[in-house]
Formats: sequence, structure tokens, C-alpha cells
Amino acid sequence: MIVILIGYMASGKSTLGRILAKKLDYGFLDLDDYIEEKENSTISDIFKSKGEIHFRKLETHYLKELLSSKSKLVLSLGGGTPCYSNNMDIILKANNVKSIYLKASIPTLIARLKNEKSKRPLIAHIETDDLLAEFIGKHLFERSQFYSLAHVTITTDNKPENNIIEEVVLQLF
Ligand code: S3P
Repeated sequence: MIVILIGYMASGKSTLGRILAKKLDYGFLDLDDYIEEKENSTISDIFKSKGEIHFRKLETHYLKELLSSKSKLVLSLGGGTPCYSNNMDIILKANNVKSIYLKASIPTLIARLKNEKSKRPLIAHIETDDLLAEFIGKHLFERSQFYSLAHVTITTDNKPENNIIEEVVLQLF
């Protein structure tokens, strides 16, 4: 099985993905890290030098590559991956793939992203906390329609990591 973690930026996909992989004795990959390694460039540099559309094409390409070549894998996607091209359709139709939406509330995401903007090209330029809050609110609203297609949705606010992992595991088997 491939377990795919989806959710907005800073929803905990990579942190929880690593813990989940250990618990299941699966491999772990973060799609952004995989793209950076394969392209020998950071996500920020890909956005800067080749633009977002190019980055979205890479995301779809490497998502397909991983889905067709791996098993026993926990794969954390980028926040935008489910929302572009036919990526969510590919995920839902793939054999032996289970997608989990890690759903965090807007205030939680704002609090985390305030301090973690710099590596994220979509929000790095937003100057004030108010503008960041406005951006996240609108953006999450647009993206929720894709995220909520996941096989399973798990709310994560105010839950210890271990409890979230337990909930995920219960949904998988
Ligand atoms: C993006 C999220 C990022 C990364 C890129 C675009 C998005 O991943 O893929 O900066 O569109 O939400 P994280 O969700 O891991 O921050």
C-alpha cells in the first residue's frame, strides 16, 4: 500500500508522515524533497527560475512516477499537489493507495505559517500577519474541495501526534 498524506502547507504532513512510516515499517518520502533531489534545485529556486506552472508539471510527473514504482510507502504531498492537473483523480483511481487529509483549522495554520514563510514561495512575499491570514482563509477555502475528496479526513487540531497516528492507522487496516 501507498499512504498519501495531503493537506494545506504546515498541516503536519511531513512530520506525521515520518512518524507514521516508522510505525508501519514503511518507507517515507516527501514529494517536495523528492522533486528537489531529482531536479537538483530547491522548490523556491524552481518557482523563481522556471515559474509555478513548471513546478506543477514536475509535481504531476514525480507523483505518477512514485505511484507506479513504489509500495509500502508513506508519501507526503505538497499543499498544492491535489489541486492541480488531474492529480487527485490519479490518487483516487490508483490501486492500493489510501489518501488521508490532515485537516488543520485556519487559526492553527496561520500561527504555524507566520514563522515558516520564507521557504514557501506562495506566501514568502506576504508582509503582514493580517494579509497572511486573509490569504490563508481564501486559499484554504478554494483548496478544501480537493482535499475533502481524500479517502479519509482526520482533524488534527489540539491532538497529540500519537493520537493522530493512531487514528490514521485505524483507518488503514
Ligand atoms: C505548495 C506547498 C509546498 C510546496 C510549494 C507549493 C502549495 O509544500 O509544494 O511551495 O501550493 O501549497 P508544503 O505543503 O510541504 O509546504
